[in-house]
Amino acid sequence: MSASRFRCAACGATFEADVATPYRCPQAALDPEADHVLTPTLDAEGTVWPNGDDPNPFIRYRTLLHAWHRLRAGGGSDDTWCELVTGLDERVAAVDGVGFVVTPTHMTDLAGRSVFKDETGNVAGSHKARHLMGALLHLEVTRLLGGEPDERRLAITSCGNAALAAAVLARASERELDVYVTPKAGHIVLNRLRDLGAAVHFQRRGDESGDPCYRAFRQAVEQGAVPFSVQGPDCSVALDGGRTIAWEFADQLRANDLRVDRVFVQVGGGALATCLVRGFDEAHALGVLESLPRVHAVQARGVSPLVRAWEAIDSASDPAAALRDAARHRSQCMWPWDEIEPSIASAIVDDETYDWHAVIDGMIRSKGDPVAVSEGALRRAHELVTTTLDVNASATATAGVAGAFTMQDHGTSFDGETLAFLLTGVNR
Ligand SMILES: Cc1ncc(COP(=O)(O)O)c(C=O)c1O
Ligand SMILES: [Zn+2]
Repeated sequence: MSASRFRCAACGATFEADVATPYRCPQAALDPEADHVLTPTLDAEGTVWPNGDDPNPFIRYRTLLHAWHRLRAGGGSDDTWCELVTGLDERVAAVDGVGFVVTPTHMTDLAGRSVFKDETGNVAGSHKARHLMGALLHLEVTRLLGGEPDERRLAITSCGNAALAAAVLARASERELDVYVTPKAGHIVLNRLRDLGAAVHFQRRGDESGDPCYRAFRQAVEQGAVPFSVQGPDCSVALDGGRTIAWEFADQLRANDLRVDRVFVQVGGGALATCLVRGFDEAHALGVLESLPRVHAVQARGVSPLVRAWEAIDSASDPAAALRDAARHRSQCMWPWDEIEPSIASAIVDDETYDWHAVIDGMIRSKGDPVAVSEGALRRAHELVTTTLDVNASATATAGVAGAFTMQDHGTSFDGETLAFLLTGVNR
């Protein structure tokens, strides 16, 4: 048995590193009422925090990644992993101009003492490439271990950042990609997707509830495409590499002797917050973080299914028990939002929070809670962060700060505390 495995919180299905990780929990189709999501799980016992200084996070933190454990359990060497990552990274840099490096942090006094992790210079301009590089490494490891050469097309649903990241990685690994996207996606994104050779398929809203792009993506997967998206229920392996942000953030906090009291994270589909919670949990278990900071998930008020789910769980006499129950009965607290209102934080406007369970679990355990923010708060945060820090972040990327401002407006004091934020993507 290896130290790393994927496990489903709803049914307990477990996949060790000696077998390929399924994209979906096998029980999902048989039992759609439960919230089947395979999530990476690392044993603290027997795992040592990596102390290397390689600039590439997929090399520095490799021993924490399930894809690395999978390669090792299949007989591949550590050198093979490093060659794989380095080779892919060179091709990514040739396609996009930048490869994967540990991203910088900035300190300010914006909403109390604040530390920002800046993903705007990451591959394809956002943190999404972290999730998808992890997913690509799983595909490449399967190929290396002598699985069938995988010629299948990749499929993704996204309105922007994730699609761009997927298109860069598909191009770098010479794979074909189908992108299911709303006709409202911006020209800059669409032109870049086409330049990168992705096939773009527009999906319009009809009478059915839920996201039409997500439905088309699911259909493509059912017809044989590889899910290459950033939703854990459909592409479990995207939750592997997303944790690199949290691991390196934890190292940067330790190096600067910073103890963070709260972390604000903008939530659309929920994979980012899931990886942040899991990655911080691991950093805590391995002695790098003193404790899990209070987690505050931030959503735009006009579309806030995670806040709605939180209210259902938090109002129970025993929220942790209510959450365990909700994992078996997903529709009690998570279903598509009815009226989709536009927001300047457009990348967090998701009909459903696909990865909601681990985020609510993280908020319960850390004594945090979610914040729904107004468009005014989002605008104020965007203006202040981009002028104060001189970072060209999008309004989605600065939405965490809108969460802190909103809590202050409602009377919360952050006196004496240190807050953490993730500037997740560039303004296009
Ligand atoms: C810049 C940016 N930040 C945050 C998010 C939210 O991530 P998630 O959908 O995993 O919650 C997104 C998602 O599209 C994004 O593009
Ligand atoms: Zn399951």
